[in-house]
Amino acid sequence: MIKRTYPQSRLRRTRAKGYLRDLVAENHLSTNDLIQPIFIADQQEMKIDIPSMPGIYRHNLESLYAETEELIKQGIKSVAIFPAIDSDKKDAQGSHAFDDKNIVCSALRGLAERFPEVIKIADVALDPYTDHGHDGVLSDSRVDNDQTLKLLQEQALLLAQSGADVLAPSDMMDGRVKVIRNILESNGLVDTIILSYTAKYASSFYGPFREAVGSAANLGKASKKTYQMNFANLDEALHETAMDIQEGADIVMVKPGTAYLDVVHAIKSKFQIPTFVYQVSGEYSMLKLSIEKGWLDKDVMLESLLCCKRAGADAILTYAAKQIASELNS
Ligand code: PBG
Repeated sequence: MIKRTYPQSRLRRTRAKGYLRDLVAENHLSTNDLIQPIFIADQQEMKIDIPSMPGIYRHNLESLYAETEELIKQGIKSVAIFPAIDSDKKDAQGSHAFDDKNIVCSALRGLAERFPEVIKIADVALDPYTDHGHDGVLSDSRVDNDQTLKLLQEQALLLAQSGADVLAPSDMMDGRVKVIRNILESNGLVDTIILSYTAKYASSFYGPFREAVGSAANLGKASKKTYQMNFANLDEALHETAMDIQEGADIVMVKPGTAYLDVVHAIKSKFQIPTFVYQVSGEYSMLKLSIEKGWLDKDVMLESLLCCKRAGADAILTYAAKQIASELNS
């Protein structure tokens, strides 16, 4: 061990000026690290407020394209789209997910035509489409893993064919990465990326998202604990990661972010694979609301994102992407 003693070592020397702090900074955040999640819906209005997520809206297609253009101007080149589906289109099987005229497929085609260079990420999961709000189909009121896999495979193929560059299975069924990779390969879609929600925990931080996509009412008091991970576990996340890599995931993701950065660090250190983190709706809203109230300084958002980088994340899905990009650019 090197002895670091005072006053030979005064750590405050390199903290004395902003430019010095920049020179010795170990981690950085740039617009290259940010992915903007966007909510879309089949609606007349261009965009509608989401009360539980200040500054975030549900967009119709026209507004989605306008938003994407603004993001590109700010240097954000990746978007993840999430649909709010009309309740009359929901059923037990999530059938509307397989309609190539649904809002997500239309959005993917529209984005691909207008913004071929933008990275389009599509969630693979049934919960926006099911009337019970679960990510899979039910048998005897249990989420049926293997039945669900067949549907996820079909959904994934449709999303890739509609123009998704990246498929993001977010449902936590066992074996989903494997079946999705198989269907992609057997249809010649060899370059479609799988960004697996590898360590997705059964978390209460998803509340505002479920409001935003309208699945909260469908789900009611039911929990997703029989498929999403127990937040007590870390080894299990490593096990999931090993399996996802084996099954064909290109990128793995941890979700939520802030309270789970030990998981990000452990995965990145052990597997050296591209590792993303999702700063989820609840985390965003907690910070954003406190900033709006004046209880926290607005820099807290950038701090929370940079800490994700420090933990080892290569990129971050965050609702604050656009806002932070404009700060980084100014
Ligand atoms: C759906 C899905 C969820 C999120 C992303 N995809 C919610 C859930 O699993 O209930 C959460 C995102 C967020 O809270 O920002 N499978």
